[in-house]
This record gives sequence, structure tokens and C-alpha cells, in this order.
Amino acid sequence: MPYIPPFPKPLEKSSKRSLWNLFQRGRRSWLDTLYEGSYRGDMSRVRIPGLNLFFVKIPDLVKDVLVTNSASYPKHEMIDRALKPLLGSSIFTTNGKVWERQRRMLDPAFGQAKLKDVFPLMQGGSNSLLSRMDKIPDGGEVDIEIEMTHVTADIILRTILSESLESETAVMIFEAFSEFQEKASLMIQLGFIKVPLWLAPRTYIIWKRKGREIRELLTKTIRKRYDAHQRGEAASHQDILQSLLEIRDPDNGSAFTFEELVDQVAMLFLAGHETSASALSWTLFLIAKCPDIQERLHQEARHILKDDEPNFKNIHQHKLIRNVFRETMRLYPPVGFLTFRKSVGENKLGEHMLPEGSPVAISPWLTHRHRELWDRPDEFDPDRFDKSGEMPSCSFIPFGQGPRICIGAAFAMQEAMLILASLVRSFRFEPGPGPDPMPTARLTIRSLEGIKLHIRKRDLTTPADDSFMPLAEELSPTSGCPFHL
Ligand code: HEM
Repeated sequence: MPYIPPFPKPLEKSSKRSLWNLFQRGRRSWLDTLYEGSYRGDMSRVRIPGLNLFFVKIPDLVKDVLVTNSASYPKHEMIDRALKPLLGSSIFTTNGKVWERQRRMLDPAFGQAKLKDVFPLMQGGSNSLLSRMDKIPDGGEVDIEIEMTHVTADIILRTILSESLESETAVMIFEAFSEFQEKASLMIQLGFIKVPLWLAPRTYIIWKRKGREIRELLTKTIRKRYDAHQRGEAASHQDILQSLLEIRDPDNGSAFTFEELVDQVAMLFLAGHETSASALSWTLFLIAKCPDIQERLHQEARHILKDDEPNFKNIHQHKLIRNVFRETMRLYPPVGFLTFRKSVGENKLGEHMLPEGSPVAISPWLTHRHRELWDRPDEFDPDRFDKSGEMPSCSFIPFGQGPRICIGAAFAMQEAMLILASLVRSFRFEPGPGPDPMPTARLTIRSLEGIKLHIRKRDLTTPADDSFMPLAEELSPTSGCPFHL
């Protein structure tokens, strides 16, 4: 049976709203301000006092902005204002030569060799999740967003800093981050309409304070490792911080300064767990709603893993899991909007002339549900990714594209496949009570009121289904193209 999962019903054209009404709706979630027409056409324009924003929706034009002419569309400074207290000058928001140096030096920490090194650290986080799940009584209810936020924060702390969420510092970092990002959403919205941030004084103060607290906690943890490295002590960890301590800029041999290290680690924590938590939560909701698909995933995991622990090689063989995860990110892309770009000079984009300085928006949410691009755009159909080679490039952009494509895309895929393979082998998920969760746009696409699921343990003593035929392709963990990730 085709399944169309929940999303906010688009507004009808005839119901054109006042600016104030749209602002109020947008404060709740910008997904609630979309019209049916937003999902059609090549570009649209939003003009409100102080803002002349160009929305780019179709793959050719997305490619123009993100890939072919990316130098003419650097990141807009808008988001920098909202993240600066925490991230300082991190790779996420910088441009030009500063960004080029940061990217050159961070890339090796996310290459295939490093992903293999950090696999056992990831596995530690995943095993800890399995033990928590095991303690839930059969048929018990879980808020899966909370669990997925916990496991992804735990994994990011383990892989970057070799700390686990069981440590006191890690818990403090995690809690301060949750508050920071809740406030950062409003700061981004105010920045969007050019309102001075201090006009929301309570939010402004908490947001600044939390940003400072997180930096202090990270500073303490990184300081010990930085000083030991400066003293020439032998490496005691295999984590990402170790790579960042050792890396030298191939252009001039310089290392990251201490401040730069804190900026990058703060950004990796923020970018690296919230997004994965969102995608994993929606995946588990969707398979709970589609028991036939969940059964196929279970059989795939049993066929590939047998009684073994998941390992670096076998998790990449789960092609069905990969397709389900990609289809989930098509329907619920964790990053609903890429960071706004800014037109440097006048640029011709499609039929439009963009004046100097115009903000340019690309939304994976809109492109992934574009009515003229996708067959049955709102339907959950993981098998469509078997034919993904036929899709134009830049039609599926959960990780962005071009030089600024997500540096952690392969990390995120490895983590997701490890967690999902481990979960679907041992547990069955069923929808929880009440209405289905409605997506809402925060820093990432989350649910309005949590995603409740029932969880049941599988009986692994029964034989696996012999007739199950795995999809044959051997997957490469890092092939560079998001379609094949
Ligand atoms: C499912 C999980 C993830 C999704 C959907 C995702 C999505 C994205 C997207 C869409 C961008 C591009 C933003 C833009 O162009 O405006 C991005 C950039 C970035 N992501 Fe991710 N991300 C995920 C996981 C991760 C992880 C695990 C890490 C690191 C541990 C990470 C680190 C970064 C960094 C550093 C950038 C900035 C790259 C640059 O500007 O050069 N992400 N991510």
C-alpha cells in the first residue's frame, strides 16, 4: 500500500495571507508558510521590506549556485550572527581563503581511513543505545527523538573527543547545547528580517550565556590534549581531535591554533549530531508505519550480519537500509534550508538577473518534493533509489552539493547504517499512541511533539528467512556522491 507520511498541508493560493499572519506562522515553523505553488516552478521570489530573496528550486539552477558558479555565491553572513557566540570562526560560516584552509585541514579527519579508525568509537555509542533499548519492557513506549539525540550526541563526543555521554562534562555540554540551539532558531529568524538581536532580551541573554558555557567546557577538555600534544607526548587517542592536532596545512605547514580548534570542535558537535538524530528518528517512524518494509530490513540485517557484531565492512552492505535512509532524507531532509548564499556582483540565474548582494535560498525540502521533478513526490518509496542513477544531479541534496558539501556525509551514513542495522536486527518498532507526528522546522526538521513508538524484542532463535535475496551491489563507504553514499 502506498504510504504518504505527514507533512503540513500547503496553503492554497486563494488564501493569500497578510505578512503578519505569515510571520506568525513562520515563527512556529516556516514549513507552515508554504503554498502549493512553492513546490512548483524553477525559482520564486520573496519580497518583504528589507528583504529581496530568491528561492532556487530546480536541479539545474541549484547546480549553478552550489557547483558550477559557487564562487559567485558565498555563504551569507546572516547565519554567522546567530552562531558566532558558539562557533566563533568555524568552517560552517567562513568564506574565501579562511574557509579553503579550514576545509583542506579538516577533510582528512573525515576520509575513509579515519572513518575506519573511529568505527569502534561509533560502535561503543551504538552498543550503549542497544543496552538502553534492551531494558525497555517488551511493547514499552519510547520517544525515539530523545533516544536518537542521545545516541548521536554520544557518538559525536566519543568520535571527536573520546568522551562518552556517561561523563559529567559530556552531559553538561549536551544540555547547554540543547538550550543554545533552541534560542539560536529565534536569533536566525530575527537576523532574517534584520531585527537587532537584543530586541528579544531574554532569549538573547540565554543564547549568549549558553554559547559561552559550551565554549568554556570544550576549552577545558581540549586544553589538556592540546598542551600534551605541544609537549610532544605520544598520541593516546585515535579520535578526530587527534587528527586535528596533528594536521598541518599542506600549503604552509601551519597547525590549527588553540582557538581555531575550539571553533571547529564546537561546530562539529553542533553540525554532527542534531542532523543525524533528526534523520534517524524519521526513519524509525517511517518503518514503524510500514511493517512490510521493516520486515525486509530485518531480513537484510540477519542475512548480512548473521550472529556477528556489525563491523566496518558488513554495515556498508545493507543496501535496503541505505535506500530507506536516503528516502527518509528526501522526505524529511534534516537541513530544510541550506545556509543562504549571497550573489557577488550581478548574476544571471535562469531567466532572472540577481542584483549584487541578493540573498539566495536553496531548500532540500522543496527540491525533494518538487511536483515536476519527482514521481509521487510525497509518497514514501525507498525502492525509487534503485533507479537513482536516472535522476538529474542536484535533485537529491540532503548534504548540499559542490565544494561546500557536508564534510560529514560519509560519517553520517556510516553511523546511520550501523545504528539502523543493529536496531532492526534485534527490535521491531510499532507506531505509538495518538496522531502521527507533524514535521516542524527548528534548526533541523523535527517533530512538533515528539515521536512515540512501541518497541518489541525480536526472537533471534527462529531461523532467518532463507528465501531473502540481498541486493547484490557491494557498497563503498565513501564514494563521494551523495546518491551512492
Ligand atoms: C544526516 C546527517 C547530516 C546531514 C543531513 C547534514 C547536512 C549538511 C548540509 C546540507 C550541509 C551544507 C550546508 C550548506 O551548504 O549550507 C552540511 C555542511 C556541513 N556538515 Fe553536515 N550533515 C549531516 C551530518 C554531519 C556530520 C556527522 C558532521 C560532522 C561530524 C557534519 C559536518 C558538517 C560541516 C563541517 C559542514 C560545513 C562544510 C563546509 O561548509 O565546508 N555534518 N551538512
